[in-house]
Amino acid sequence: MRFIPTLDPLPYLRVEDFFTKIQLEQQVFPELEYYTRSGKLLPATETGSARNAEGEIVKNNSGMFIEATYRESKSSSIATIINNFWNTDTCAAIEKTGPWNRGFRQSNSTATLISYYQEGDYYLPHLDDVQFTLLVWVWKEPKNFSGGEFMFNDVSHTVPMKNNSAVLFPSCYSHSVNRVSMNTPSLNDGTGRYCISRFYWIHQATEMFTYNGTHPKDMTPVNLSDSFNV
Ligand SMILES: [Fe+2]
Repeated sequence: MRFIPTLDPLPYLRVEDFFTKIQLEQQVFPELEYYTRSGKLLPATETGSARNAEGEIVKNNSGMFIEATYRESKSSSIATIINNFWNTDTCAAIEKTGPWNRGFRQSNSTATLISYYQEGDYYLPHLDDVQFTLLVWVWKEPKNFSGGEFMFNDVSHTVPMKNNSAVLFPSCYSHSVNRVSMNTPSLNDGTGRYCISRFYWIHQATEMFTYNGTHPKDMTPVNLSDSFNV
């Protein structure tokens, strides 16, 4: 896994080689293919989609929340691997792009969404109603689609989208996915564009100062020397 803290044109963290080769072959793709081929992926109306001012859903894809599927998210290998992404090194990496990104370290609640884009699928510009969004992109090689580029719309910036790369950013950045075109006709065969989203937010307990999150409590406190040096 390689961190690429990025400031221009917006502060965010890019990650390359997100999963190891063994994780991809033995855990990630088998789990994704199972969801895709067994009809576990649901239409956009059932996966917490963003809506426009008129209340219309602004995405066209299929997906599922891991937490809505399993009693414990660790039943999913993908969710288990991504749980380990939130650690001191990752927090320090995104904090290099600005002090406001210390909010990632402060997050204590998460959810995991598997999305699959095939012919004609897209996601129009929207915000996520959480604090930080991690998107991990994977697809089967040789690549069987074109399009599907990820953009930060506030600055019309297309993020480099390599296979097995990721982006971590404040969820208030407007972002979108361009329409996907499949090279050869396919339907739910797993050769499209997968996006694994992990959402992070701070859960405020009703009673102040009561820990009510899902992360371990022994995270390293913020270290100012971690920050500001890209
Ligand atoms: Fe989003």
